[in-house]
Amino acid sequence: MTRRGFLKAAVGLSLGAAGCRATGRAAAARSTTIEAGRQDGKVNDLFRPGAVWLDTDGQLIQAHGGGVLFHEGVYYWFGENKDARTQPARGRIRRLDVVGVNCYSSTDLLRWKNEGLALPAVKDDPDSDLHPSGVVERPKVIYNERTARFVMWMHIDKADYGYARAGVAISTSPAGPYRYLGSVQPNGADSRDMTVYQDDDGRAYIFHASEWNKTMRITRLSEDYLEATDDSVREFVGRSREAPAVFKHEGRYTCISSGCSGWAPNAAEYAVSEAAMGPWTVMGNPCVGTPGQVATTFQAQSTFVLPVQDRPGAYIFMADRWKPEDLGDSRYVWLPLEIDGDSLRIRWLDEWDLSVFD
Ligand code: GAL
Repeated sequence: MTRRGFLKAAVGLSLGAAGCRATGRAAAARSTTIEAGRQDGKVNDLFRPGAVWLDTDGQLIQAHGGGVLFHEGVYYWFGENKDARTQPARGRIRRLDVVGVNCYSSTDLLRWKNEGLALPAVKDDPDSDLHPSGVVERPKVIYNERTARFVMWMHIDKADYGYARAGVAISTSPAGPYRYLGSVQPNGADSRDMTVYQDDDGRAYIFHASEWNKTMRITRLSEDYLEATDDSVREFVGRSREAPAVFKHEGRYTCISSGCSGWAPNAAEYAVSEAAMGPWTVMGNPCVGTPGQVATTFQAQSTFVLPVQDRPGAYIFMADRWKPEDLGDSRYVWLPLEIDGDSLRIRWLDEWDLSVFD
């Protein structure tokens, strides 16, 4: 992206944020928030990090901890549907019942159509990994050319985060419905925050926080992407990183991650590598701005890096601005990445569009 592009984008005030209030109650109660966030039909003409973001039905987008798949001209955004009541913290962690994994589709990355629950919670089976009493977080979907199947990986857990597994589901169409296949602790390793990275040679990997989040593991998936293989490495040893987001630009791999502080934001860190399985070199914090912005990743936590189609070198940093007292009212922070060799920068913009990459 050119400097001129960034300057052009760094204009105006953030709309919507002022109009949003946490209600502490789910769906119905948030409708006032949604009305307040409707900005004369202008809501979806620009990216407005941290502001209310409505789908094409005028409803708050529910796709937290998510990722985006591009398939046959359409972007599919998968994420946690958190449209449920946030329960007071038991121990350290506030939680809500699992609703399921939502899917939205778009061709311009701004206007998102709700495709519904791609993987709903299983309410009638308390033993199911997808029972509302559990945890389904950070879903990511990739497409397997060989099997012509869409494969979703996600963090599966119990309310106390002691189950610590990676779950997998499969579908014949991008928006689902997905059929849940089960969960694993890859090679016996606990697995919490995670992402999936699909390389251009067809190999795919899960990056999963392990060893009680102290160390990240990178585990290659089988050719059909349905199983974790024993080809696995430990990286970022003892650095306590989570929320990994991985991309490749001009043959160099980059992983952006957060520290471990639950729903509270912390400083991002990025690392680079010549290969998906490392060795990875930690580079530092990619955020540029005020000390507060840099220390909190603009009050957000990484979830994915989205390559913009037909714009080589254009990548969007996707992050969640969690609202712990009402998690379903959490916001999205999407910002353009500036890449210069191994150096990565993320700067705050109140509002912007894809012309920043011109
Ligand atoms: C965060 C993690 C989230 C969620 C949360 C629960 O650290 O990134 O996905 O698990 O903890 O407190």
